[in-house]
Amino acid sequence: MYTSNSGIKVIVVGAGFGGLTAAIECHRQGHNVEIYESFPELKVLGDIISFGSNAGRIFHRWGNGDVVARLRPMCIDIQNYGFRIHKWDTGEVVYHQKREPPSADAPVLNGHRGELHEVIFNYARDDLGIPIHLGQRVLEYFEDEDSAGIVLKDGQKIVGDVVIAADGVRSKARELVLGYVDKPKSSGYAVWRAWFSNKDMIADPQTKEFCENGDTFNGWIGPDVHFLFSTIKGGKDCCWVLTHKDDHDIDESWSFPGKIEEVLEVLKDWDPVCKAIVEKTPALVDWKLVYRDPLPTWISSKGRISLLGDSAHPFLPTSAQGATQAMEDGVSIAICLKRAGKGQVPAALKTHQEVRYDRVRAVQKTGESTRDLWHKTNWSEVKENPKSIGFPREDWIHQFDCEKNTEDMFEGIFKSYAEPVGNGSETSLLSAETSRAAAVP
Ligand SMILES: Cc1cc2nc3c(=O)[nH]c(=O)nc-3n(C[C@H](O)[C@H](O)[C@H](O)COP(=O)(O)OP(=O)(O)OC[C@H]3O[C@@H](n4cnc5c(N)ncnc54)[C@H](O)[C@@H]3O)c2cc1C
Ligand SMILES: *[C@@H]1O[C@H](CO)[C@@H](O)[C@H](O)[C@H]1NC(C)=O
Ligand SMILES: *[C@@H]1O[C@H](CO)[C@@H](O)[C@H](O)[C@H]1NC(C)=O
Repeated sequence: MYTSNSGIKVIVVGAGFGGLTAAIECHRQGHNVEIYESFPELKVLGDIISFGSNAGRIFHRWGNGDVVARLRPMCIDIQNYGFRIHKWDTGEVVYHQKREPPSADAPVLNGHRGELHEVIFNYARDDLGIPIHLGQRVLEYFEDEDSAGIVLKDGQKIVGDVVIAADGVRSKARELVLGYVDKPKSSGYAVWRAWFSNKDMIADPQTKEFCENGDTFNGWIGPDVHFLFSTIKGGKDCCWVLTHKDDHDIDESWSFPGKIEEVLEVLKDWDPVCKAIVEKTPALVDWKLVYRDPLPTWISSKGRISLLGDSAHPFLPTSAQGATQAMEDGVSIAICLKRAGKGQVPAALKTHQEVRYDRVRAVQKTGESTRDLWHKTNWSEVKENPKSIGFPREDWIHQFDCEKNTEDMFEGIFKSYAEPVGNGSETSLLSAETSRAAAVP
């Protein structure tokens, strides 16, 4: 479904999952869209990333299932294996969580962030022909009553109707758009994370079971620490993340190296299998988990620049929804712009924010609640009710169809933001939608 041209020029800053989705969805909704991204070339960066079925539903609509067909072989398949939750010290499996039956139109897709990112990047650029300008760091944002734009490092100015600032957790736009510096806070936790081949794992009788019979997913839950380990691509690739207490310096980076010895120190009284896995890790990243108070607004004062994705709302990994929520933002903003029309961009962005704000906050909170559920486990309770330690999978998050929701909510919210349109000559302000409605007696 591609709508005819809306005449709206959208500038997207950032080609992460948030920016790419916003651009793809703007293209679907008939806007003219271009992306400006600071990295000079595409690199396969990161490690495991999760997309819930509410993101799968968005991917599924791209190329009528083509995009999902490209992503699926890269993603973990634990239909048979499920998720096995162990007690940290004894190693016993306290709960075996079964997977939901697979859904064709809303698949769950968890895999290597860089590999999945490359597929989406190529889909936007090569299949849809969306211009993606690499090596273009945005230094400034500007707007007036009729337009908004960016200034690039070389001084070049780009002007459009609306700017979507999807520039990530270290957003520069946040400060420029909001007019103040929003300091990150430490969440009190950090995550060590690694992705590596199974070569040494299959050589060790203690660990080879994870690599010989297809994909696996195991978690060890302990006091204030949890260790998640998965094998992907039929057991070929191994990946783990270990969340632990950390109160010192904050560095929001993906490439900060971590030390194996420190990980082994945390795991010293743990199930020896954990140590056997970590010992085989060639390199790891230490990622401090920062936290931000919810921003009062994602939208600039004149209403033509919007933060989107991590720049508007960073997530804790225990929500497993950060990238998914960034994608939902992209769907919503593209629809609001289409429904509102070129003359009503500020009202479109306000409507988008209101469609999204409460949902995003509620999903953000699940990151904390899941972490606390695991880190403060009452083991006698788990004995009585093993299910209570399972990864919460809530329908209001996963069964959600962002496209349908935005279409349904739009009119009721937009009414209160739409600029009054004159009842005579000022028809240029009328959106295509309203003029069509007005044409019907
Ligand atoms: C290199 C990298 C690796 C990551 N690895 C993981 C991972 O392994 N697991 C995980 O769960 N999450 C990872 N994330 C975070 C995850 O991708 C995001 O939380 C989520 O996808 C939301 O995406 P986003 O588009 O809002 O932000 P991001 O994915 O952070 O994308 C923001 C983009 O904006 C660009 N940008 C920033 N400033 C400017 C500027 N001034 N001008 C132009 N462009 C700019 C950045 O280069 C980046 O490409 C990673 C992010 C990055 C950037
Ligand atoms: C743990 O759970 C048991 C059984 O439900 C309960 O009796 C006990 O008070 C709980 N302990 C704590 C510390 O909450
Ligand atoms: C329509 O125009 C008339 C005359 O200019 C004005 O009095 C009236 O308030 C306008 N109505 C609306 C809905 O703007």
